Amino acid sequence: MPNLLSRGLFNLFFGSKRKAFEKLPGPTPGVLGTLGDFIGPNPWDVCARYGREYGGVTLIWMGPSPGLVLNDPAVIEEILLTRRLEFEKGNIGTQIRPTVGDTVFIANQGEDWSAKIKVEPMAQPWAAAWLAALVGPLQAAINESVDALLKEPSIDLTPTLRRLTFDGFAVAAIGEKTPDSVFEDFMLLAKGADARLQAKLPLRFVSFPEGFEAAKERFYGYFTERVRRARAALNPSAVDLMSWTLREMPTVSDAWLGHILGTLFYGGVFSTSTTLVGAFHQLQKYPAAEERLAAEAATLAGAPLTFEWLRGAPWSEAVAYEVLRILPAVRIFLRTPAADTELAGVKLPAGSTLMVSNQHLHRDPSHWKDPETFEPSRWLNGGTARDPAGSGYFFPFGRGPRECVGAPFALLFLQTALATIAARVKVHVDSTEPFEEGFFFGVVLPKGVTGRLIARPSQAASLPGSVHPSAAVKTA
Ligand code: HEM
Repeated sequence: MPNLLSRGLFNLFFGSKRKAFEKLPGPTPGVLGTLGDFIGPNPWDVCARYGREYGGVTLIWMGPSPGLVLNDPAVIEEILLTRRLEFEKGNIGTQIRPTVGDTVFIANQGEDWSAKIKVEPMAQPWAAAWLAALVGPLQAAINESVDALLKEPSIDLTPTLRRLTFDGFAVAAIGEKTPDSVFEDFMLLAKGADARLQAKLPLRFVSFPEGFEAAKERFYGYFTERVRRARAALNPSAVDLMSWTLREMPTVSDAWLGHILGTLFYGGVFSTSTTLVGAFHQLQKYPAAEERLAAEAATLAGAPLTFEWLRGAPWSEAVAYEVLRILPAVRIFLRTPAADTELAGVKLPAGSTLMVSNQHLHRDPSHWKDPETFEPSRWLNGGTARDPAGSGYFFPFGRGPRECVGAPFALLFLQTALATIAARVKVHVDSTEPFEEGFFFGVVLPKGVTGRLIARPSQAASLPGSVHPSAAVKTA
């Protein structure tokens, strides 16, 4: 709570403005408004605390400007679904555009977004077939990573699983892993965006990392060149997104598709790998859940993973859902009214900050039994239908039309990775104490989660067939 002088100064200058919002609860503002609460703790923890202390709508002050933290499913539904055209994504476009260009993620509501989602490959009807065909190649890519990691005496899970995820995404996007230099360029561009997302100063004072422009040209150039080569020798049976797109949407340009493929990594590598780190941390803490995952994965008996097997593997799906509930990788989504508007019974000026928070609702004891416990079984026997992704108390991928377009792919990747890894190894995590959470590229970043892979007895000798011939990646 700000001191008496600080509170007095705020009231002196903005007291009359404050009157219009007096029906809403919230922390007491000082000279900085309520921004002081956000200095130190992670913003998602502050938003979740507001949910517990003040209820569904909390009034905050960004200096002299009012804003709302939303933990109320009905108000969230208004801004993400029923009245979504009135609320834009705010500054995020300016912050990440130099890294990702003009993508669907940062499109303005209305025409701009409709035009972009219409041509987004992952939103096409054939994307379901792309996903189904990907399982084998993804399993092969993950097995290769596991083979290499088994040789490491100790691993830091966050960077390790980030690279494993990047490699899997490359197989999904272009049919094979990329050279290391492409991953390095990817990270450099991500750091440039992250510095802008976390900037405390106006963006014109935030410099790009050295070599940013050259890395950008190389990164997107790499994918554009891949498209050019694939188009010149179209492979009718290749199952990667690039080849599907060239077959189904032959008039798209090389540069456009190269850009779409490059941005796919920014859409999901950080969030998906963070989710995997959380999963292995929780599985270490809850050994019965881990044993059940291993038992389910053992039914594979060395055979290649298929889409049908995944559909019949409820536990690996339940583990993925449960980690997305208890440790969602994206915990705050921002919106801002494009024009002066009314919400939650108050008048909000254009440009005010609205923070949609999912952490509190994902653990709300009025909705979830034992919400602090990692309990995948809550998702069995109709659990996923009771609380589907995108519903009031479970929205790790957002809600409404702008819900994550990569969600089906992310879920498939998570389930494939969990089953593939659990079939081969136990991921031993050194500590089950809650890990420190940072923030990178808008996504929670687990810090200092170390461990090692322990081969399961039947897998002690690395299987020559761990990369099953029939699962070999078809390149375009
Ligand atoms: C566990 C993994 C993931 C999580 C937790 C996640 C989370 C989210 C969330 C919360 C949103 C909505 C943001 C908002 O409304 O402001 C979103 C949107 C989006 N995500 Fe994901 N995401 C994940 C994986 C992916 C993947 C794998 C991709 C691409 C391959 C992707 C691409 C996108 C795109 C393009 C949008 C914008 C959709 C639109 O505006 O129409 N995401 N994601």
